[in-house]
Amino acid sequence: MRVVLAPMDGVLDHFMRDLLTKIGGYDLCVTEFVRVVDQIISDRAFLRYCPELTNVSAYGCTTEAGTPVRVQLLGQTPNCMADNAAKVIELGSYGVDVNFGCPSKMVNKNRGGAILLKDPENLYQIISAIKKSVPEDAIVSAKIRLGYEDKSLAIENAQAIEAAGANELTVHARTKVEGYKPPAHWQWIAKIKQNINIPVIANGDIFTLDDAQKCREVSGCTDIMVGRGALMLPNLALVIKQIAPVKPWHEVRALLLDYSEYETYGAKSKYYPNRIKQWLKYLKLQYTEADELFQEIRTLKTAETIRALL
Ligand SMILES: Cc1cc2nc3c(=O)[nH]c(=O)nc-3n(C[C@H](O)[C@H](O)[C@H](O)COP(=O)(O)O)c2cc1C
Repeated sequence: MRVVLAPMDGVLDHFMRDLLTKIGGYDLCVTEFVRVVDQIISDRAFLRYCPELTNVSAYGCTTEAGTPVRVQLLGQTPNCMADNAAKVIELGSYGVDVNFGCPSKMVNKNRGGAILLKDPENLYQIISAIKKSVPEDAIVSAKIRLGYEDKSLAIENAQAIEAAGANELTVHARTKVEGYKPPAHWQWIAKIKQNINIPVIANGDIFTLDDAQKCREVSGCTDIMVGRGALMLPNLALVIKQIAPVKPWHEVRALLLDYSEYETYGAKSKYYPNRIKQWLKYLKLQYTEADELFQEIRTLKTAETIRALL
């Protein structure tokens, strides 16, 4: 079984990837999406999303803990996506992932993300152009939702992605319109899986060991991807693999302090105060103590004051 750490724009950045993969259990990380419009993205911009590109071995780039990292691209123009895909592979990304699930109004208005799920031919063109532009052994993956307004094209979309030569497919088991409203329709992942031959990674609402087991059973997938759950429970991947029990609160609290180490890189930023509050909002869904701590930290504005409190 592989447990993949999901891309989460504005949440799962390289600091969080570093911290969570050091705890362990993750087999792959996917970066926040990098928006491709009509230009080649600069090296500097790619490195901002994926500093792990400076840590490249023969097998591609990894976090410090050794977990491979794959850059995710979001865009709609096949040629431009292909040129940027070739570039990230050259920079050392462990494959390239394509985002066909982003629900953002702005992104969709410009014909990127989930809106592309209305047009299987367009998905085909994008993946096919990327596949032609990268070395044969480079992994090209895609991430989809079940559709835009409805699920009528779910299987056709997956088949188009497979026919274009993608190596694997992650399915977030909801339509764009369903947003994040529970439940995730894991049985739809099974329908997709039955109609294609490439590996399918199941995603959506896996927050506990029990969820992971049920999702794998219902979807028929071996591999899963976790996003919000990884923030609610920092050792979720180890829990799912039954290597460790749920981390006790005092250890999570210590992690919050470890996380402040990363602030030193971004000296004048509000990175840590903002991100710690964001993280506590996820943690409180698993630990009641996190809610109490959030109330204490809510009004603190600097890394120093938060560190002192912790
Ligand atoms: C704040 C946030 C940011 C996200 N950013 C991305 C992204 O950049 N690329 C992407 O493919 N999916 C993105 N997603 C979707 C997640 O990768 C995942 O598919 C979704 O959260 C369902 O999985 P989960 O229930 O394990 O969280 C984002 C989700 C959230 C909540």
